[in-house]
Amino acid sequence: MCGIIGYIGPKEVVPVLIEGLRRLEYRGYDSAGVAVVHAGAVDLRRSAGKLSKLEDVIRLEPIAGDYGVGHTRWATHGRPTEENAHPHRDCTGKIVVVHNGIIENYLELKHELQRQGHKFVTETDTEIVAHLVEREMRNDGLENAVRRALLLMRGLFALVLISADDPEKIVAVRNGPPIVVGLGDGEFFVASDTPPILGHTRDVVFLGDEEMAVITKSGVVFTDFFGRAVSKVTQRVLWDPIMAEKAGFKHFMLKEIFEQPTAARETILGRVSQDSGKVFLEEMAISDATLAAVERVTILACGTSWHAGLVGKFMIEQIARLPVEVDYGSEYRYRSPIVPPRTLAVVITQSGETADTLAALREASRQGASSISICNVVGSMATRESGGTIYTHAGPEIGVASTKAFTSQLVALYLLALRLGQLRGALSPDASKPHIDALLQLPLLLEQTLKLAPEVEEIASRFHTRTDFLYLGRGINYPIALEGALKLKEISYIHAEGYPAGEMKHGPIALIDERMPVVALAPRDQVFEKMMGNMQEVKARGGSVIALTTQGDDLSSILDRSRDVVLQLPHAPALLMPILMALPLQLLAYDIAVRRGCDVDQPRNLAKSVTVE
Ligand code: AGP
Repeated sequence: MCGIIGYIGPKEVVPVLIEGLRRLEYRGYDSAGVAVVHAGAVDLRRSAGKLSKLEDVIRLEPIAGDYGVGHTRWATHGRPTEENAHPHRDCTGKIVVVHNGIIENYLELKHELQRQGHKFVTETDTEIVAHLVEREMRNDGLENAVRRALLLMRGLFALVLISADDPEKIVAVRNGPPIVVGLGDGEFFVASDTPPILGHTRDVVFLGDEEMAVITKSGVVFTDFFGRAVSKVTQRVLWDPIMAEKAGFKHFMLKEIFEQPTAARETILGRVSQDSGKVFLEEMAISDATLAAVERVTILACGTSWHAGLVGKFMIEQIARLPVEVDYGSEYRYRSPIVPPRTLAVVITQSGETADTLAALREASRQGASSISICNVVGSMATRESGGTIYTHAGPEIGVASTKAFTSQLVALYLLALRLGQLRGALSPDASKPHIDALLQLPLLLEQTLKLAPEVEEIASRFHTRTDFLYLGRGINYPIALEGALKLKEISYIHAEGYPAGEMKHGPIALIDERMPVVALAPRDQVFEKMMGNMQEVKARGGSVIALTTQGDDLSSILDRSRDVVLQLPHAPALLMPILMALPLQLLAYDIAVRRGCDVDQPRNLAKSVTVE
């Protein structure tokens, strides 16, 4: 939701903070600020708007210090203004805090502090932390004042604090949203995520819930909220710093669309054997006995990850012969779900920090479900709270619109379906071999599909001014119709709807006219003829069709080149077709958004990781 960075070490602190915030802007960007300490005084610069506005402010009024913190914000409390921008300070101006998350009881604490004479200058929940710590300071160190304050706060929060009265110390706290500590050579970093750290060190420690890091020039001490030492494992993040850059592409999203063959390959690598037909998911760290005994699967996710779950239902039901229900993370806990014995909860989450998905996982676990997460971020909350994890090896996904993580999730779901099928005896290793062969072909098929990019660009040039789109699909490709519509909505701000094609006659067909393009997903599969019928219905009402079909089907018998478009994708088995179909739809959304001058990587109102409910 927000981006936090802190640095202490020999480098000039402000450039390190600003560069770190640039790597975190995808987490939220409606205001930003930095604070540094020098000679017993705090100096601070903040601004509303993108990071470039803060850089302008610092250019006009430079600041320098020995160490400091920075923040880029996605507003949850308080309008995105300069005075609400982090960092926030106490009455003395000597205690500084940056925050990600929500302090649920902040109003109660604020009123108490106001009664005690504290003066507030913002609408934020964050500011109460600075005043609470100010009140709790007792000359026993910033960390102990913070510990006393933590006992009074409720909510999900990642906090980083400094104080000019306890110099050369950074205190970081996690209860929910992520905090990563970077261990450099004589320098230390703390951040919401790894990209701002990777340029300096790859050795990181992920704070756990209710843990604290006390960072000084001589090192880092990890404790719990009561000050008891906690042993932490240093992890070496393999992602090269360059990976988290745009690598020459105009936007992170475009780079990540073209990384999908690699992401799929990396997600499959080492997990299948063509010779034996076996699937290896040992790192999932959940026993074979537990998986073999599973009698039903509940998939829990939000947004694009929920669309992945809908595709996963087809894979698991067809291969493992297990009943699967798919639920929104944001809905699940409110419907008093029934969780019978031998239920496996599968949470799908790129970030591993989505609050609604985590809440759904906790509800399913509370009712006795075993659980695994399909996740793209090492050490994230979902991987710590679930019984096991299948990591998607997509690498850092910076664009707010999820692309390579989505298709990598589909690969992971296919692997899970194969593993479950084998463990349940529904699928022999021999019968697995055609699936494994198909999976190993997938990266090449994705590369071939991406060759359609120029044709998609041409479609965007014809349709980017339209105001409404309809996406139609059937069976395993219906979720891809939903996903294509979401991609268009979230980055081009055009209204779009995904619909099961068979439902058109039950209402939506009333929408069809010459102004509304209809994207039809029509691979040569068991419902191809039905999709042909749906396209004819659209044509009969003056609509334009953008058809995605398979090579060899030019659909010229029903479509008119002057008004319609046909994209011919490579042939692939039915269970892999959704993965291929997603790519042209991602590109279409991207090309239209670029033509409309939208901020593709940082769409309005959105953030990469929704860590509040
Ligand atoms: C996808 O393009 C969106 N950014 C959004 O729907 C996202 O998929 C959703 O917020 C879930 O995020 P997660 O996978 O990190 O849990």
